[in-house]
Amino acid sequence: MTTKLTVAAVALVAFAACNSSSKGWHDAAVDNARVQIGMQIDTVESFKGAFHNPTTLNPDGSVLYCDVTDWRSGFFPGTVWYLYELTGDSALVPYARKYTESIADAQYLKWHHDVGFMVGSSFGNGLRLTGDSAYADAMVEAAQSLSTRFRPKAGIIQSWDVEPGSDREARGWSCPVIIDNMMNLELLFEATRLSGDSSYYRLAVSHADRTLKEHFRPDGSCFHVIDYDSISGGVNHRHTAQGCAHSSAWSRGQAWAIYGYTVAYRYTGNPAYFKRAADTFEFMRTHPNMPSDKIPYWDMDAPGIPDEPRDASAAAVIASGLYEMSTYPVAEGNGALYREYADSIMLSLASEEYTAAVGDNGRFILKHSVTSKPADVEIDVPLNYADYYYLEALKRRRDIEKKL
Ligand code: GLY
Repeated sequence: MTTKLTVAAVALVAFAACNSSSKGWHDAAVDNARVQIGMQIDTVESFKGAFHNPTTLNPDGSVLYCDVTDWRSGFFPGTVWYLYELTGDSALVPYARKYTESIADAQYLKWHHDVGFMVGSSFGNGLRLTGDSAYADAMVEAAQSLSTRFRPKAGIIQSWDVEPGSDREARGWSCPVIIDNMMNLELLFEATRLSGDSSYYRLAVSHADRTLKEHFRPDGSCFHVIDYDSISGGVNHRHTAQGCAHSSAWSRGQAWAIYGYTVAYRYTGNPAYFKRAADTFEFMRTHPNMPSDKIPYWDMDAPGIPDEPRDASAAAVIASGLYEMSTYPVAEGNGALYREYADSIMLSLASEEYTAAVGDNGRFILKHSVTSKPADVEIDVPLNYADYYYLEALKRRRDIEKKL
């Protein structure tokens, strides 16, 4: 009789054989991720019935599993794709495929804007790594769903619906757009590349241009929420949802801006987009409240600094964005700065302060992220997208090293 080793056990055998202590931090971080995510896969596989998508921790310490409509539903499949890419372990592919295909219904979702995150991180990475044409079809279908949220008068894609009687209505919002929405544009750019239909590209550029005009402050930081008048297309409010004040710099919002405008530059070559990413990074880099380990507070204006939670997810997103920025000639003399700053973030994230001991932390890799302090939701917890962007950053760094 043969005994099938669990995904984590296979990784542990390899881990023990190659003596991670003699490796550099990057390879040791990949080894650690292989074991921790292997354990997460083993947990998911032990459930019967529907796919359980690990997302964060509940207040009682148990793992919260999200459903397909949650904006975070694509990150666990995406994490397994990146782990496969980083390790070359083809045993991970059937899991990555299964988890990706388990959220196929996300491509039809039209009631919020996050299909770009959801389908891009799962099907997008699957397409990149396997070339599966069914995954390309899912990307184009998802872009079609996202396009239904375009509001021509304002020239933007509406992020959230405003239901009668909702908290959003109580805030006076009509057509809210959050800076996070820049992250959904990659799906539209990809859909044009895959289908040849330039309408997706045009919507993405329109959204990026209006956001460039309305979302940013003279100091380089950005608002979280711009509420548009869907009839006139004008701006009604400049607000926050997850930051500590309308005028504050919510850190993950700054991270989405840096990363999102880097992606917009990748597809368009518009130097104004790169400058936007560079200027927002400069705001964060030079902020007097940026801690020496480069892991930002959840909000750079949080009233209790230095006794405020950090946000490892924002740090991972910034690191991944900076690695991409460092590769473009338009970075001019700043390429080394971007890369060195990203390395500093990654060294901190890979340390015991932010990387959990194997088997702890609900089997997520990173500790210390925040969903929403104002809403008192998921404060100082692991988040599946912190892990996703951390692995993406590890992969980008490796790609850069290979080219040097
Ligand atoms: N897009 C939601 C968040 O960043 O929390």
